[in-house]
Amino acid sequence: MKTRLTDLLGIRHPVLSAGMARVSQADLVVAVSNAGGMGCLGGVSFLPEALRAEIRDIKARTSNPFAVNLLLPEVLTSDDDASWAPVSELWERLSPDDRTKLKGVEALLTKGAVQGQVDVVLDEAPPVVILTFATPREFIDQCHTRGILVGALCGSIGRARTAVENGADFIIGQGTEGGGHTGHVGTMALIPGLVDAVDVPVAAAGGISDGRGFAAALALGAEAVWVGTRFIASDEAYGHESFKRRVVEGQSKDTVLTKSYTGKPLRALRNEWTSRWEELSGEIANFPAQYAVAGTLVETGYQDGDLATGMMPAGQGIQTVTEILPAAKIVENMVTEAENILHRLNQRA
Ligand SMILES: Cc1cc2nc3c(=O)[nH]c(=O)nc-3n(C[C@H](O)[C@H](O)[C@H](O)COP(=O)(O)O)c2cc1C
Repeated sequence: MKTRLTDLLGIRHPVLSAGMARVSQADLVVAVSNAGGMGCLGGVSFLPEALRAEIRDIKARTSNPFAVNLLLPEVLTSDDDASWAPVSELWERLSPDDRTKLKGVEALLTKGAVQGQVDVVLDEAPPVVILTFATPREFIDQCHTRGILVGALCGSIGRARTAVENGADFIIGQGTEGGGHTGHVGTMALIPGLVDAVDVPVAAAGGISDGRGFAAALALGAEAVWVGTRFIASDEAYGHESFKRRVVEGQSKDTVLTKSYTGKPLRALRNEWTSRWEELSGEIANFPAQYAVAGTLVETGYQDGDLATGMMPAGQGIQTVTEILPAAKIVENMVTEAENILHRLNQRA
């Protein structure tokens, strides 16, 4: 399946595994890239030197293209004490055990760490960087100077236009069906709008978990798919077995858009914690201060399989995720199924 994105990225299959915090580590990235798609590292979860080690590990295990995702909202790159105070106070209050548990978000809770991630990425120069929340022109220029391609994850046409003006090489449109932090527009409506609004290639994300979603995304004008939730239920994804099982057994209606973990809208599996905060929504703090309220719960879902209160980001696409598979098999199944569908539809035409 040749598209402008397979050409631009130098990959065989237009299937990109999403850069998921905690879940997308070297094993998953290498497996997807070696299967002909493109794996993306969830860079947000690593302190700068740990990020460098993870990138070098990936480079040692694949010569195929891969990407690194960074979250660059101003609040994380600013060194304004006021916005950091609630988070720093949390960090000070935590026991050593809890700090260990929060290793995965330490970079988000440590002033200057995100800037450190930026420096490491410019130093290590992975083939592709995927930006979320903000697309600073200066950083994109620095990437291009080093031959790094830049993609931008966007939930709205406005953000996509800004990203392209700032130099992004392609756009990933994430519909509200998607797991993790997400917007309010559905994939079916967002993707055609993005394709009409920007000249660069667009990849589709949000609720795409098999070849049917893949074929539909291509019909909407997308030139690749960016897939998260489906890859949670893979052998190589990081995550407690109970979390993966919950994704396999879950239904779309089991997910909810909640600010109760981070202060920003995030699609996750509904549980006692999200339900409790539905009644208290007026009291939710902003991003990243709500991390200080949720504390270790932002990690106990991934790490301990804490289904009752732990954060378990997942999208509505869980409906069609029915088994845990090797990541390479997920890529192969998605491509084969999409090709069969497109062939069948062509026959009918
Ligand atoms: C467990 C999980 C963690 C995520 N973490 C991030 C992240 O760190 N950065 C980011 O840009 N998107 C993140 N996302 C969103 C994905 O990049 C992607 O856009 C989304 O998963 C696509 O929708 P889908 O889950 O329906 O496939 C995350 C999603 C999930 C499910």
